Amino acid sequence: MHELGLTPIWRKKQSGVSTSVNTNLHSTIAIDDSDDHRFDRDKHILNLNWQQLKAEVENCHACPLSQARLHTVFGVGDEQADWLFIGEGPGAREDEIGEPFVGQAGKLLDSMLAAIQLKRGSNVYITNIVKCRPPNNRNPEFNEAEQCSPYLKRQIALIKPKLIIALGKVAAQNLLTTNDSISNLRGRLHYYSDIPLIVTYHPAYLLRSLMDKSKAWEDLCFAKATMESLK
Ligand code: URA
Repeated sequence: MHELGLTPIWRKKQSGVSTSVNTNLHSTIAIDDSDDHRFDRDKHILNLNWQQLKAEVENCHACPLSQARLHTVFGVGDEQADWLFIGEGPGAREDEIGEPFVGQAGKLLDSMLAAIQLKRGSNVYITNIVKCRPPNNRNPEFNEAEQCSPYLKRQIALIKPKLIIALGKVAAQNLLTTNDSISNLRGRLHYYSDIPLIVTYHPAYLLRSLMDKSKAWEDLCFAKATMESLK
């Protein structure tokens, strides 16, 4: 528990052949938003192996986020992990380095992992809803998360985790396709397809809201007990 700094007290989118998107990033790119294109793209991605998937993400220009990125941030860890942690999207440091959760929030995530005897890279995989940094660390927009979702879907299919931990509201809402609040979503077991999923606070939020660290600790204990029951 001390790893967490706790003391013992306690729209369906409109379909069209081609949509022009103003990126707010100094240029305009064309995205084929037709249902046919999306179907073909999803099907293509869902058949890729790890190497092909990594290359596809590295070369992705499916949404405006690709225009300002320094690096794509694919994910890191054990590709056959039982534990899959999913955050929201890369921040500045992650964009520079190309690895998820390497900034301050990442340090806290490592401590959260340590609190339940886990370690980055060892039976743990970490990734995000979107693989490119949203400008000024804003939340990913619907279209950005949607364009990135086949990559995450394929990562999950390849990893076959026993348990998914959604870190924060953006991850939870996208994975569970809900607008429900994090306080309503945490504390119970959900499913992503047939994979058990638990929601907890995002480490960056916990850095600002120390009072909720004890709730995150409860979530981690719940996750640990859930994993035990799955073995
Ligand atoms: N926040 C996230 O959600 N993901 C990262 O990779 C870093 C910070």
